[in-house]
Formats: sequence, structure tokens, C-alpha cells
Amino acid sequence: MENKDRLFTRRDILKSGAASTLLPLIPGSVLAAASKPREYRLTASSTAIQLADKPFPKTDTWSFNQQSPGTLLRFRQGEATRIGVTNALPQSLTVHWHGLRISNRMDGVPELTQQPIGPGESFWYEFTPPDAGTFWYHSHLNTAEQVGRGLYGPIIVEEKEAPPVDRDLVWVLDDWRLDNQAQIILDFDNPRDLARAGRLGNTVTINGRIPQSVPVQAGERIRLRLINAANARIFALRFQGHRSLIIARDGQPVDPYEPGGPIVIGPAQRFDLILDMSAEPGQRYSVIDVSFPQSPSRLTNLVYRATPGLERAALADYPGLPENTLAEPDLSNALVQPVDLRGGDLGQLKRARLGDQQLEITRLYLLGKMWAINDVANDGFTDVPMFSVTRGRTVVLEFKNHSAWPHPMHLHGHHFKVIEHSRDREVVGKWLDTVMLGPEESARVAFVADNPGKWLFHCHILGHARAGMMAVIQVS
Ligand code: C2O
Ligand code: CU
Repeated sequence: MENKDRLFTRRDILKSGAASTLLPLIPGSVLAAASKPREYRLTASSTAIQLADKPFPKTDTWSFNQQSPGTLLRFRQGEATRIGVTNALPQSLTVHWHGLRISNRMDGVPELTQQPIGPGESFWYEFTPPDAGTFWYHSHLNTAEQVGRGLYGPIIVEEKEAPPVDRDLVWVLDDWRLDNQAQIILDFDNPRDLARAGRLGNTVTINGRIPQSVPVQAGERIRLRLINAANARIFALRFQGHRSLIIARDGQPVDPYEPGGPIVIGPAQRFDLILDMSAEPGQRYSVIDVSFPQSPSRLTNLVYRATPGLERAALADYPGLPENTLAEPDLSNALVQPVDLRGGDLGQLKRARLGDQQLEITRLYLLGKMWAINDVANDGFTDVPMFSVTRGRTVVLEFKNHSAWPHPMHLHGHHFKVIEHSRDREVVGKWLDTVMLGPEESARVAFVADNPGKWLFHCHILGHARAGMMAVIQVS
């Protein structure tokens, strides 16, 4: 049975442009009339946060606005915004707006696109996000350490017309490596991590808390935005007893589909899901991480309130999100670039170029370099571009992972369309900014190089990037 009042309320909320409970109920016309850009302030500082429950003490983190994840930034698609970043930390930093296709000077890569923001300094970022969806921001200097200590936060770019859901939830996933006093172990250069799967933590959090149960209401429809902010951990989530519908990946809408298995979310990737709370009041269901199938772990519980349910929504009814506008690649006239990923333990990397030297692997390891793209190990942010392409041309990247470890490969300033993937059929045809390549896997992706500048391209296992798996692509 449908509850007419309930439906009316939903539509009413939609009209007001505030489908999410996170937004105050401001009439859409008021928001639209605001001509000043939306403005935020982010201050990076060290902050003690209660990650683990008492009696554990608070954890000393580095964070934006004294919380990790930092303040949720809400932008509107196609509207100018400004973010003033102040650095109250002892290290320089920059902020990268992961997945936002904005101008190069605002991309937040040290040396390559801007001078680092020194201790005590501020910098204003100004841009207009072209795509609606789920994104995130993070520091991009000494990234493995700074992100590992908590310097990141979620971004929602609102659709012009919000899709019909009862609640809009954001789960920023992370794992922390804590000692028995709940303090971060500062071994960001541990060669064992760098040469293998990256730095995995021992404490998983959702939105900066060890996840308690999540209260839900029978019958409600939730849009769940998953953001993986971990340095290296790959999550594989199963929602026990519930169907989930994937409606966007990496901020780009997809034709809604139900995943054929767990939702595998690599570092830096995002998924937007529709979850219908289809069970009965008072029930409880686990959300399980099966990324290590031999030892599945419970991420959290969905706990139904005892109060009677709303009307049932039918999952199949979901219409999907309005598309963002991305240029369609022209495969017939593309620049084809092989991307060979080598290195790490059990790897095939014998030697690589570092700066202007050709070095043997043992020598590279001593310099903290263990990974290479096309046999070049990255040595800072201003390396000679891997290739240049004229603006407007299609580029095809042909990935081949010759290593025994996974690599979520991220390109700045663009989304690419996955043309082919040796294992993952579900990803084909999707627009991503970060594509996962498991051991020995290959993939082809294509994009129109329509955003001029020098763009960073790297593995988002942050230890791998630090240890050489990074390059620059030039669009001129
Ligand atoms: Cu999240 Cu260089 O990126
Ligand atoms: Cu990697």
C-alpha cells in the first residue's frame, strides 16, 4: 500500500531542492537567487579525535576543521565556489579536489600546479564544478603521511534536481594503523608496505568513528555515498539481506545496476547506491567486508527502528541520475599510450629510470623507489611528461599490471571511459577517475584530453605513488 501523504511529502521536499536531511529546508528559489559563490573555509591543524571508543584515549590526527573526515563541502553543479585553506600544521600542504574536472591551476598538486601552502599560510581555491556527484578532497603533499593522518573530507556536488530519496548518507571509509594507545604509528615509509599491498591499517572507521550500528527506518529509501579514503585498503562490501542498486561511480551516473557480487571499492573510488530498507521494524542486518574472503569482517549493522515502516519503495523503479556532460572519445583517431606497471615484491622490475639515471632495482630500493610506470620511477611532481597530447584529441591508455599487487590508477582533471577490462565486466562502459588493476590484469580506457595543463597520473595506493608509481600527462 502506498501512503499518499508520504509521497506528497517527498515530492514537496524535492521541489524545495532539499531532498537530503543534511540540507536545511531552504526554498530552491532562494538558493538559486544567491549570486555570491558558495564559500568555505578549511583549516588544517592537528586535532585529537576519539576514533577508538573509551577507555582508549583520543587519537592525535591531522585534520581539516578539527574533524576527520573534514567538513562536508556541498557545491552546486555549474556554480562558482571558493574555498579558503589555511595551514596551521608544521608541514606544507596543498589540497586536491579528487575527481572534479576543474582548471589545472586549482588542482592542488605541489610544484606542478601551485606553490605549496606553507605553515601559517593560506590559499584560496576557486572553481566551478562541472559534474554533479560524489567526490572528495585531500592533501596532496607528502600524501601518504598527510592523508594517512586524516587530511581529507567529502564533497557532494548537488544535482540541479535532487533525485527522490528519503535520506542522503555519506560514508567515508578509512583504516588507521594505531598502536595500543590508539595513536597513529608513523611508519609511512615502511618498505614492506611500500613494496606490497600498501599501508593497511588495523582500525576501520566510517566517518571517523569505529562504526556503531546505523539506525534505519523500515521502508525508507537511502542514497548511500561510499568514499574510500584509505591509503591502501580495498573494501568489498555486502549488505546482508538487502539489494543495492549502483547509480553512480566515481561521481559519474551509471545506468542503475545491481552488482553481481560484493561492492569492491578501491582507494579513492566512490560508489553511489540506492538502498531500500525492505526488512521489518526491529530487525538488524550486517554490512560485511569480504575483501579478505577467508576472514570476513563486519563493518557495521543496519538496525531497524521498532516504529512501523514507511511504504515500500520498489528498487526497480529507480530512474537513475541525470547524466553529466562528458566528451565521447573518438577511438578511430586516438593517441594510444601503453601503461606498463611494474615493481614491488615478486615483481618483474629489474631496473628503471629515476630522474636522468638508469638504476638497478637494488639501488632503487635503497632510494625508497620500488615502482615504475613504463620503467620510469617518479622522482617528484615536476617530472618530464610521460606524453603530450593536443587538446581535444582522444587518448587511449592501455594498462598492463605486470606486478603481484593491485593498483587503483587515477588520472587528474579528466574522467575516462573503460573500454575493456580483463576481469571486471561491470566496469566496462563506465566513466571513472580511478580504475583498479589487480595482479596481471589489463584494461583499456579512453578519454578526450579536453582540459589543458600538466596532470598528475598515479596509483592511489599512496605508498606506491610515493615509491615511484606516478607520472605527468600534458594536454596542450
Ligand atoms: Cu586523489 Cu592525485 O589524487
Ligand atoms: Cu599501486
